[in-house]
Amino acid sequence: VLLKKGPLPTLVAVVTTKYNGVVNAAPVTWFTPCSYEPPRLALATKVESDTSANIRDTGQFVLQTVPFTDAQVVHNLARKLSRGESEVEYEGLEVVKSEFVDVPRLKIALQWFECRLEQVISCDTHYLWIAEVLNSEIPEIGSEEIPLLYFGGLKYAKPCEPIKVKPY
Ligand SMILES: Cc1cc2nc3c(=O)[nH]c(=O)nc-3n(C[C@H](O)[C@H](O)[C@H](O)COP(=O)(O)O)c2cc1C
Repeated sequence: VLLKKGPLPTLVAVVTTKYNGVVNAAPVTWFTPCSYEPPRLALATKVESDTSANIRDTGQFVLQTVPFTDAQVVHNLARKLSRGESEVEYEGLEVVKSEFVDVPRLKIALQWFECRLEQVISCDTHYLWIAEVLNSEIPEIGSEEIPLLYFGGLKYAKPCEPIKVKPY
């Protein structure tokens, strides 16, 4: 599948969603800002995923960048659990309450975007969610805290320095 395993190096974020009190987290690379004013983000997620079901049912998600030092735990968040199970709890990660949405972020988040759904576009295998970013305070990232990059498969990297992770 052409676009499945890379080959573009992309920035990795984690999307958190919540449904019935269960916090779901999944690593994502298919996201981009798409409007200055109001600030908007677009995110593509697989049709058959808990993340898609949760966004559809609640209209909310939090997109967050994470440090490259957390590559393994972030990779592990891609593990397929049932909708009633939380990858966040499975990995023993802590969460922090959000200000504008009912979905928390991960404590390890470097930057976070609290998002409210505005539009959805169906793209065959994925949904493209277009959402407004509600928080205006977004921390700057220090030079020692480089966000995680992804090269596809099991290869992650910080800029110019590839890191390999073990399969979960
Ligand atoms: C680094 C990385 C990036 C990923 N990017 C995306 C993405 O942009 N969109 C997507 O739908 N799935 C992406 N995936 C796969 C999901 O994380 C994976 O399917 C996950 O199990 C979905 O979880 P959920 O069913 O709890 O939503 C990515 C996986 C990895 C490891």
